[in-house]
Amino acid sequence: MDKFVVRGGNPLVGTIRVSGAKNSALPCMAAAILTEDEVTLENIPQVRDIETERKLLASMGAEVELGYGRAQHRTTISCRNLSDPVAKYEIVKTMRASSLVLGPLVARCGMARVAMPGGCAIGGRPIDLHLKGLEKMGAVITQEHGYLEARATRLHGAHLVFDKITVTGTEDLLMAAVLAEGETTMENCAREPEVTDLAALLIAMGAKIHGAGTPTIHVHGVPKLHGARHRINPDRIEAGTFLVAGAITQGDLIVSNCNPQHLGAVIRKLEESGARIDILSSDSVRVRADGPLKASDISTLEYPGFPTDMQAQYMALATQAEGVTMVKENIFENRFMHVQELNRMGANITVDGRTATVRGSSRLSSAAVMCSDLRASASLVLAAMVADGETIIDRVYHMDRGYERIEEKLRGVGAQIRRMGDVFAPREDAWHE
Ligand code: EPZ
Repeated sequence: MDKFVVRGGNPLVGTIRVSGAKNSALPCMAAAILTEDEVTLENIPQVRDIETERKLLASMGAEVELGYGRAQHRTTISCRNLSDPVAKYEIVKTMRASSLVLGPLVARCGMARVAMPGGCAIGGRPIDLHLKGLEKMGAVITQEHGYLEARATRLHGAHLVFDKITVTGTEDLLMAAVLAEGETTMENCAREPEVTDLAALLIAMGAKIHGAGTPTIHVHGVPKLHGARHRINPDRIEAGTFLVAGAITQGDLIVSNCNPQHLGAVIRKLEESGARIDILSSDSVRVRADGPLKASDISTLEYPGFPTDMQAQYMALATQAEGVTMVKENIFENRFMHVQELNRMGANITVDGRTATVRGSSRLSSAAVMCSDLRASASLVLAAMVADGETIIDRVYHMDRGYERIEEKLRGVGAQIRRMGDVFAPREDAWHE
């Protein structure tokens, strides 16, 4: 199992490049199910979840080419022959986002069998809202032996109102609606850029969608969709992670190939804490910090609020800020797994329900720590880059799920970080969010 060894003390200086967004690429790959034609996606990140999605689609009979040549990170998917519309347990248990094939499979094939995703490190993560929407669109859903089965001769349009804002729920049902008969109105939708990115691909495939990126989306169902070529958005969470890295190490870092428009809440929060942020162009942002930062509370919210996927990373920064930072996690019920590990490095954090109190100005020291989930992993790397001594971070396969070559990218701007152990050793038996 791979580990990272990180020696703290170096400010990050230079330019670091952001990869494509995993959480855009996953629904866009699933969207290829909706057509017999080829779908080509560019700017795909080289991360383990993408490989898992490739395996999942191939297991259903799709042909998936995945290339990571220097020039292009690209996948071409053909779902002409979907012989087995089943998302098997062995794959689903390693990646919950497998449930994104549910809507497209029912829309294209009239049936889907998807292993129940089960819980994960950060919370129960039910998909009841996905199922409720599919039933309203005419699917009959049964559950047995740990599998969900959804059947519909042809889905019909419906008026859906989400009880809670759900990103993959919005994406799953959007993909169901584009081939459904008639009109679908979806209210209380997620507005994340990943939803807008998926809608852009679906429209390029011939779907009729209005309102993606707003709380209300209208879809006029069409009988067929055709192939398309689409470039995946830059990863706003990777970009935010790098901005925090530049601030916490008191560096001067340019984050390139990003979209500053997707980073509003994170940039505002970093400015409040005293970091200097300059938007250099439509795809690059500069962060500088020379002197201690000030505590500034966060409360995670759906987009465009402060993203839950940046909460752990920001908490690492808060351990260094002057003052006390209150961190409120409103989206997931158990997303403080990184707190104990940060405290083992000398942080001073207490948790009460969904609120963490971070007493700042902590001198962090190296320790042997362990990743528990994707973003907690990033938090530990950030802390280790400012800790005295050499920190060993175990179970970095969590990080490899959503960060491409993270140690190479950070080393390129001055971090002292290296990987130990067999690279990308697959860990098929682990639960992942
Ligand atoms: C997506 O997960 C992201 N994953 C997560 O990123 C991200 O943390 C999350 O959205 C919130 O932004 C992908 O896009 C692949 P939700 P998702 O449905 O869609 C509850 C990462 O680090 N809920 O928006 O699964 C749910 O329990 C990952 O890259 C229901 O109750 O999250 C949660 O409390 C981690 N019933 C809240 O809604 C449902 O049917 C928001 O979850 C669906 C969700």
